Amino acid sequence: MRILFATGNKHKVSEASEILSHLGHEVDQLLIHGQVPELIEPQAEGIEEVAISKVMQARDLVIGTELEDSIILAEDSGLFIDSLRGFPGPFSSYVEGTIGLSGILHLIPPESGREAEFRTIAAVYFEGEILTGTGICSGVISREISGEMGFGYDPIFIPHDGDGRTCGEMSSTEKSYISHRGRALKEVSELLNPPSK
Ligand code: IMP
Repeated sequence: MRILFATGNKHKVSEASEILSHLGHEVDQLLIHGQVPELIEPQAEGIEEVAISKVMQARDLVIGTELEDSIILAEDSGLFIDSLRGFPGPFSSYVEGTIGLSGILHLIPPESGREAEFRTIAAVYFEGEILTGTGICSGVISREISGEMGFGYDPIFIPHDGDGRTCGEMSSTEKSYISHRGRALKEVSELLNPPSK
């Protein structure tokens, strides 16, 4: 199946493509008249509500175009840090853009635990229904920013399922197999009809 991913983030598209191509799906970025559609992220909502809102907005935008019958994917993610009681969570994007990664490192008290998890909800519009998948990647927040790959909080997140490197030090292939996004997409893929359909 061909899945159109409604996101402006090319890293997310390549991670999704990496995972879903092995499950028999093709992933392309959703472009409407050659443009990435602008989707509004409802504020102060959980990531599930945001993911569903984004997929419904994208679906509305393809109605009446040649993409009307397409399978549409949207997702929302957040970083939840235990010692900050789940902060930044649904505010991850705002926090990254304001205090940034070094601001987060300063917020964690030096003596406290560094456990954290990334969560993703992936939402797919398929034949009139919305299917959702959840993915969690547990790990710890590093003491320093490390790595040039990936995006967002990758350079300060060390997944438990890895080898001690931050996600920012992993290729997108390595990251996609253990990541929250990869897991959410696998779950959604299992809910879709078999790829041969
Ligand atoms: P959104 O899902 O694009 O709204 O992302 C929310 C925030 O989490 C943004 O600051 C992203 O940069 C960050 N983020 C989302 N997914 C990841 C990831 O896989 N790695 C690192 N940061 C991420």
